[in-house]
Amino acid sequence: MTGKDMEIIGIPRAVRDACRKHLLQSRTIGFVPTMGALHDGHLSLLRKARRENDIAVASIFGNPMQFGPSEDFEKYPRDIENDIKKLRNEEIDILFLPELSLLYSSGFSTYINVDIISEKLDGGFRPGHFRGVATVVAKLFNIVDPTRAYFGQKDFQQTIIIKRMVKDLDFDLDIVVCPTVREDDGLAMSSRNLYLDKEQRRAARVLYRCLNEASDAIKSGIIKLEEIKDLMIKIISGEALVNRINYAAVYDPMTLDEVDVIQGEVLIAVAVRLGDTCLIDNMLINS
Ligand code: PAF
Repeated sequence: MTGKDMEIIGIPRAVRDACRKHLLQSRTIGFVPTMGALHDGHLSLLRKARRENDIAVASIFGNPMQFGPSEDFEKYPRDIENDIKKLRNEEIDILFLPELSLLYSSGFSTYINVDIISEKLDGGFRPGHFRGVATVVAKLFNIVDPTRAYFGQKDFQQTIIIKRMVKDLDFDLDIVVCPTVREDDGLAMSSRNLYLDKEQRRAARVLYRCLNEASDAIKSGIIKLEEIKDLMIKIISGEALVNRINYAAVYDPMTLDEVDVIQGEVLIAVAVRLGDTCLIDNMLINS
């Protein structure tokens, strides 16, 4: 089966039936959940899902539950016609494209909350965000029942929250985390980059520069968190268009706690605001 005849299905039960049919014939299903506005980062996940499985399934669902009241859900980029073309090009077999009311019926009141790690980093700035992510991802996993699901490392916190949920709730699938795909100048690909004007887009290069310089400093032997943090904040503050630094530090990649003494595998992570747009990036390094 190839994605040339991609089925586009909006009804959860119909997707479940289609996927179940394949699973009963011992075919593996690779699943890439998205909110649309597909960029090369998504395409790398879709390609890996296509390569590693008999059947490749994608979903496009702008999930209002993961947007806070001050975040403009209505403004989130949408380009469904183009997305469908890209999915056909990647030979995806099934696109799940549900309407809001089909995933959240009236009276919806069940949520997944992955404690503690959901409150760290972005969770501190986006209350309820990861509850919305975990809830919708659990629903999608229940509907598609994938063998493997693919996520990008750019959203590192999201990946460890989903892995925790999968373990805690006994979902039977593998979570595959794929490397961040970057623009030529290093900016991590994100649908949110579309919000940036020309000047902000230029300024956004500071995130990758900050991660690289912090990584070089750690590799050169600096092990004190405070020194690395000072360096990161100095680099970002040198960019006048950044109006807020949400966080910039070195973390334990399992707990997302800051590490006082940097050793072993660590996560360098940064989040800043450029105008109204929040950009995040990270790098996993072995110090
Ligand atoms: O990473 C995303 O695009 C979203 O958080 C996800 C996983 C599709 C859930 O809505």
